[in-house]
Amino acid sequence: MRKVVIVLTLLVVGLTFVLSSAGFAKKKIVLGFSQLGAESEWRVACTKSIQQSAKDYDIDLIFSDAQQKQQNQIAAIRSFIARKVDVIGLTCIVESGWGPVLREAKAAHIPVIMIDRGCDEKDTSLWATKIGSDFVKEGQKAAKWLGDYLKKKGIDDGVKQINIDELQGTVGSAPAIDRKKGFEMVMNAEHPNWKIVRSQSGNFTDSEGKAVMQAFLKADKNVQVVFAHNDQMALGAIQAIEEAGLKPGKDITIVSMDGVKGAFVAMMAGKLNCTVECNPLLGPQLYQAAEDLMDGKTLPKQIDTIEGVFDETTAAAAFPNRQY
Ligand code: AHR
Repeated sequence: MRKVVIVLTLLVVGLTFVLSSAGFAKKKIVLGFSQLGAESEWRVACTKSIQQSAKDYDIDLIFSDAQQKQQNQIAAIRSFIARKVDVIGLTCIVESGWGPVLREAKAAHIPVIMIDRGCDEKDTSLWATKIGSDFVKEGQKAAKWLGDYLKKKGIDDGVKQINIDELQGTVGSAPAIDRKKGFEMVMNAEHPNWKIVRSQSGNFTDSEGKAVMQAFLKADKNVQVVFAHNDQMALGAIQAIEEAGLKPGKDITIVSMDGVKGAFVAMMAGKLNCTVECNPLLGPQLYQAAEDLMDGKTLPKQIDTIEGVFDETTAAAAFPNRQY
């Protein structure tokens, strides 16, 4: 009998040791993330959020910066697959051209989480979820704000033509396509007298935004509105407008997207009129989704971020609480 008790005790102790030390202790998640580059204040804040919150979530992050090249992103994903990571995070620089590499990830049973920008592949089983903003809605919010503002200021009487210069984001990217779409939906439905007279890509950077705006103003200074697909290009455009001897925010109404600190400073100086928020602090949501996937949960195809609209009247009060 004593022998039986001793054997049973040893078995229980042994089993407890095996379960806690090896089999049932949670394995650290390894996540490979392909960031598209560092073209804007917004993007830098997004990268920081992803890198910092990896520590909070105790995730092993393999970070890769593609420096604005899709082929670098594809190579990074292939290297993540070769290293057998648990999850892949991806921000698609442009919408098209992702099918083959996403199918390789699927064949290797590695789930992909899209962050911020998605792709135009028809087969939605190629990614687990997309976390980020609704860019069409952002474009709509910009046009709605603009409609109210121009009317309130007596700039738009609903009849006289309102000339708009548009600074588009990176050609073929989801935010450039969708922000334009959202803005034009409202413009076409509610403002028949608005006209986008010039539209060109400033690639989401201040230097290119400035160069495009310089060319626009050289062609024609009769413009009432600049619609910029991000704050960075709006900040570049502001410089071009000032150098042309005009007052940004007064002679030309400027509305842009993101809500970075630089935009708030410009709004408080009266040089930018409105920014539609686009939240770059996506790190915590990315890792929560990765953990959920590893726990076998199914995620919704789209996880939205909550965002506001800020203008000259609300900028100063909101500024101290801005995190990016
Ligand atoms: O995809 C989000 C966009 O990309 C932001 O509006 C822009 O600033 C960034 O570079």
